[in-house]
Amino acid sequence: MKKKKILFVCLGNICRSPLAEALFLQALSDAGAEDLFEVDSCGTNGQHDGEEADPRTRNNAASHGISIDHRSRKITPMDLDYFDLVLVMDENNRRTVELLCTTSQQRLKIKKLRAFDPLFPMDDVGDPWFGGEAGFELTYHILQENTALWVQRLLPYPR
Ligand code: 4NP
Repeated sequence: MKKKKILFVCLGNICRSPLAEALFLQALSDAGAEDLFEVDSCGTNGQHDGEEADPRTRNNAASHGISIDHRSRKITPMDLDYFDLVLVMDENNRRTVELLCTTSQQRLKIKKLRAFDPLFPMDDVGDPWFGGEAGFELTYHILQENTALWVQRLLPYPR
């Protein structure tokens, strides 16, 4: 069976998207569905290329029993062909990724991570970079809830 390929995107690929990737993988694992998907994350600015996730994100995730195993990388135009679904954290990410698209098929792959958020549908996942610990904790809960919702939506696939 062909795996469905999911890419999470934020600005630096050291706070939001690597955590989203780890939480999505955890939700897949909980559902016994890891084998059906290939998952990765990347950033739009490449400023932290090769770096591990931010220590504040890693510490917060660890406090919830989640470890993050990822090195930051910048999105490439090839990602838009390779991945089936490109889940962006905010409108800036969406605009940047859309500018890389050359076909409508690629554009249709881009969705907001909070598309199914029950309270704040289509809201941005705010950038916790400049805030304190509470921001990292809030980001964790937003990502945990919304990645679980995506797994629920995607589980009937791939066929
Ligand atoms: P992320 O957070 O996009 O969630 O990884 C950021 C990380 C780094 C910077 C901004 C946001 N930065 O300005 O370096």
